[in-house]
Amino acid sequence: MSSPITDTFGRTHTYLRISLTDKCNLRCSYCMPQEDMQFMPSQWLMQADEIAFLAKTFVNMGVSKIRLTGGEPLVRKDVGKIIEDLGELPTSLTLTTNAVFVDQFIDQLKKAGVESLNVSLDTLQEERFKTITRRDHFSRTLSHIRLLLQEGFTVKINMVVMKGVNDDEINDFVKLTLDESRLHVRFIEFMPFNGNKWDMSKIVSYADLIHNISTLYRFDRLPGEAQDTAHRFQVQGGKGSFGIIGTVTHPFCSGCNRIRLTADGKLKNCLFDTSEVDLLTPLRRGDDVAPMIYNHFQRKHFAHGGHGDFTDKNAKTEYESNRKMIAIGG
Ligand code: GTP
Ligand code: 5AD
Ligand code: SF4
Repeated sequence: MSSPITDTFGRTHTYLRISLTDKCNLRCSYCMPQEDMQFMPSQWLMQADEIAFLAKTFVNMGVSKIRLTGGEPLVRKDVGKIIEDLGELPTSLTLTTNAVFVDQFIDQLKKAGVESLNVSLDTLQEERFKTITRRDHFSRTLSHIRLLLQEGFTVKINMVVMKGVNDDEINDFVKLTLDESRLHVRFIEFMPFNGNKWDMSKIVSYADLIHNISTLYRFDRLPGEAQDTAHRFQVQGGKGSFGIIGTVTHPFCSGCNRIRLTADGKLKNCLFDTSEVDLLTPLRRGDDVAPMIYNHFQRKHFAHGGHGDFTDKNAKTEYESNRKMIAIGG
């Protein structure tokens, strides 16, 4: 076992998020701004064996959790093979998906030891789903969430809350958690990325969410770890939980343990840091990528890729120079 991936702030990085593709079968505007997106040519993408090799390298450096992301990871043709390969590693394996194709992978996911999936769903209203995602897959998404629960998986629903778009549904989502112990909802503050027309006035803040939910429910804070994205709560008498991911108003950077690998094999030391390191080209040349990984994390900023406050005037130029969310994977 090699040494762990640490940074100059004493944080150890044990959670690897691998983006498998920048393609998606939905078109959510906060993630993929234009209909006519230019996707990465397939020769830019890491191949399945390269993903397995890099994942093994990271596991050797102390990674204990791997999450597959996209775009939508399940649109990739060889995703079954990738899940199978990564399932053999001594780590927990999981996915963030929109669930539209998840019914085709139930057995493979079980075989690979996947126990929990995060599913993106921003509305419980069919027409609104069409507006937000620009696609008509609402009933499939909902029935696949039910299927996952029936099959014994834990499901965390990610809802990006946007003012005037879906913030009237917050308590409808909380209601889902009352009767199902394996269903958790996370409300996410809308975050700024290239092209997604982010503005502070569009976010529903952590404080607003707490206030809104407390008009209808009594709830308690659940314990958590420093590296958790969400602060979690449980409605009194409820079985599941709800959480708030407050990147903008409640950053959790001090406990950050995340490493990101983009679908084209670039290493990101933070969701918001634009200084990426190409691992795929050196890997294809046969070079040892471990020193590049250690080095990049020595350059990691304390918070938000060093961009300071999102409301800062200069921040806009900086997050606009980041990738689009769809090409990072969250
Ligand atoms: P768990 O393993 O269940 O804790 O999942 P997660 O919250 O790490 O991952 P998921 O893919 O479900 O992401 C949920 C939201 O958290 C998305 O909006 C992500 O962009 C955001 N997120 C995930 N990791 C980070 C991070 O390191 N920093 C910030 N600021 N946001 C993150
Ligand atoms: N702000 C916050 N969360 C976002 N996601 C995608 N784009 C944004 C954004 N701009 C979330 C999706 C998905 C997760 C990986 O990231 O809901 O569940
Ligand atoms: Fe980590 Fe960057 Fe996310 Fe903060 S914004 S938690 S430093 S990835």
